[in-house]
Amino acid sequence: MESLPPARRRQLRTWVPAPGSARLQAHGFQAESDPLLDLASNDYLGLNRHPVLIAAAQAELERSGVGAGGSRLVSGSRPVHGALEAELADWLGRDRVLLFPSGFQANLAAISALADRHCTVLADRLIHHSLLVGVQASGARLKRFAHNDLNAVKELLESCRNRNPDQPLLVVTESLFSMEGTSPALMELTALCRQHRARLLVDEAHALGVLGPAGRGLAYGLEDVTMISGTFGKAFGSGGAFLATDTQLGEVLLQSSGAFRYTTALAPPLVAAALAALNLIRHHPDWGQQLVERSILWRDHLQAAGWQRPSGCGPILPLIVGADQAALDRQHQLEKAGLLTVAIRPPTVPEGTARLRLVLHRDLPDETLEVLLRALADG
Ligand SMILES: Cc1ncc(COP(=O)(O)O)c(C=O)c1O
Repeated sequence: MESLPPARRRQLRTWVPAPGSARLQAHGFQAESDPLLDLASNDYLGLNRHPVLIAAAQAELERSGVGAGGSRLVSGSRPVHGALEAELADWLGRDRVLLFPSGFQANLAAISALADRHCTVLADRLIHHSLLVGVQASGARLKRFAHNDLNAVKELLESCRNRNPDQPLLVVTESLFSMEGTSPALMELTALCRQHRARLLVDEAHALGVLGPAGRGLAYGLEDVTMISGTFGKAFGSGGAFLATDTQLGEVLLQSSGAFRYTTALAPPLVAAALAALNLIRHHPDWGQQLVERSILWRDHLQAAGWQRPSGCGPILPLIVGADQAALDRQHQLEKAGLLTVAIRPPTVPEGTARLRLVLHRDLPDETLEVLLRALADG
């Protein structure tokens, strides 16, 4: 480690999965004997331990076993895979859905289906690492634009089109950025893409189940969104992921995506849990909106307490602290008050903007906000 350059050494993180250091509880983590309320995980709807998901996973475990034992196109497909793909396609209003073992893998597959070395990819500066790895692997030319800056996208699209009227263009963004809590103006972005004949990939990992009509995501109903990617590891409380697109691109993925064809199919109990989560979300179309309303209340109170108003309007509330050590101190201070938060520091976020990433969950007790405000005031 000593031989690493200082910039790289700074990125190293300590990770001590010691027994008893952090144990998941019904509502949070248990550090030694004190339970901590979870204000850190992406389990926005509190479904991870929902009895309906657990029962669905257990039943599938009995039916199909733990793992799929093969890839989807060889021996790994079970009826539950097809059922989840069909339900999701119906819910999202897309022709075709394909499951992947993880969102990271789905994003690699998405970029590889939409871009090659003849293509230029225009990507938000803050997109997820998996999307960047996908662009690198595709051989496409990458141009970044400032976070959620539509003028910057417009200028880039115009300059690309002026230089080459026929070049394939792909725009890549997310519908809810996980460290910022912000969302792009997707309707305007789709209009720009249509005008300049660019395809658009939207990663809905953090928005699905929470944002958009009845939690269907912010790309719902936007036909010019070429493909969306989603994961079951966040609001769906399970694991695994999917891509949703039109019939033609769905067939391209099925026939040529190595990330789909040459990997063991998503474990059946996880698929069953994701399907159960989808059914719950469909039966509770107001869950997402309730969470958004609660998050606005949290933002109002944090601002009134003198904090910079956390950006965005969804369940991710970045509380900007500034210095790295100050963010860590705040994390420990909240931990003492029984709250689990995580200090996010550079290089994950820009220098000087270390923050506590507060994550609101549907099942947090009402008094959590009061506990949080009191703990922050004590600092
Ligand atoms: C925006 C975004 N996309 C994709 C992923 C990857 O999803 P998964 O955890 O299912 O691999 C994540 C999660 O880390 C994410 O935050």
